[in-house]
Amino acid sequence: VKTPKIETDIITLTRFILEQQQKVAPNATGELTLLLNSLQFAFKFIANAIRKSELVHLLGLYGSTNSSGDDQKKLDVIGDEIFINAMKASGNVKVVVSEEQEDLIIFEHSQGNYAVCCDPIDGSSNLDAGVSVGTIFAIYKLLPGSTGSIKDVLRSGKELVAAGYTMYGASSHMMLTTGYGVNGFTLDTELGEFILTHPDLKIPNTRHIYAINEGYYSYWPEQVQKYVMSLKRSQPEDGKAYKLRYIGSMVADIHRTLLYGGVFGYPADSHAKSGKLRMLYECFPMAWLMEQAGGLAVDDKGDRILDKTPKRIHERSGIWLGSKGEIEKLLKYIKE
Ligand code: AHG
Ligand code: MN
Ligand code: MN
Ligand code: MN
Repeated sequence: VKTPKIETDIITLTRFILEQQQKVAPNATGELTLLLNSLQFAFKFIANAIRKSELVHLLGLYGSTNSSGDDQKKLDVIGDEIFINAMKASGNVKVVVSEEQEDLIIFEHSQGNYAVCCDPIDGSSNLDAGVSVGTIFAIYKLLPGSTGSIKDVLRSGKELVAAGYTMYGASSHMMLTTGYGVNGFTLDTELGEFILTHPDLKIPNTRHIYAINEGYYSYWPEQVQKYVMSLKRSQPEDGKAYKLRYIGSMVADIHRTLLYGGVFGYPADSHAKSGKLRMLYECFPMAWLMEQAGGLAVDDKGDRILDKTPKRIHERSGIWLGSKGEIEKLLKYIKE
């Protein structure tokens, strides 16, 4: 009788980060490793709060709005508090930008060298329907000599040192990049550890799946209407039209796009003149993950998202991201 194959040499997130740091930055201080460990505690805590939310009446509106004008859900606020407290307790963070906080947060007494931008609960309008939501994060190292200011975060996406998300679905999945590819981890709730399950993830080069809110069709610029209409026709490669898959939580739509391939779009339109998604904690982290997985991420004019620099911490941008082949097809319609 063969002994059951039990993995006895699992790679936890902590072990992975330590091994990666030793490989890519042998003389690293280990500060980023500590910071990512504090992040993963926040994800476990938020995952737990969401799982319990039905039981402890955490669903529903909090009764206030955030600086983007979104109605805040109770879990938006709780996720935000959990995240900010974990970053403060880490001792490695000096500056925090959160979707749910009007202004930049600076931890006065912290000696931390990092600025963290986050969307504590992405897709919160879906929460009460039990649809997957997630936490998105993007990390800058403070500018040399900086004691923590808005200048540390009004920077291009190219200057990020780490970014990713945790999606709270059937299980909690974390996707992370530190500039050396994308690695995916799944939370083992018994061990309380994120385990490496998607090493060196690459997005398929093409896939006939598109994700966009077609309800806004009449608001879109004409070239976007033409591009999307072209997807609805049977394609020469397989005689079939594209599939539409739109969940309405960016984390869930991007997670599917990374794993299956395809294209996601939230373009600027006549109602949302700069699009809806915020650069620092939605566009940049998802764009970097896509590029690191072999995909592309561009704005309404077809320019690279990561080359842009926000002027305000909640600045929005139109965004298209996904498989390289799919974005190249889009560029034929939108590239000026
Ligand atoms: P958040 O819940 O953090 O405010 O983000 C919601 C965003 C994003 O998750 C999603 O892609 C988009 O809103 C959906 O917007 P529409 O409902 O306009 O399609
Ligand atoms: Mn919101
Ligand atoms: Mn969001
Ligand atoms: Mn949010």
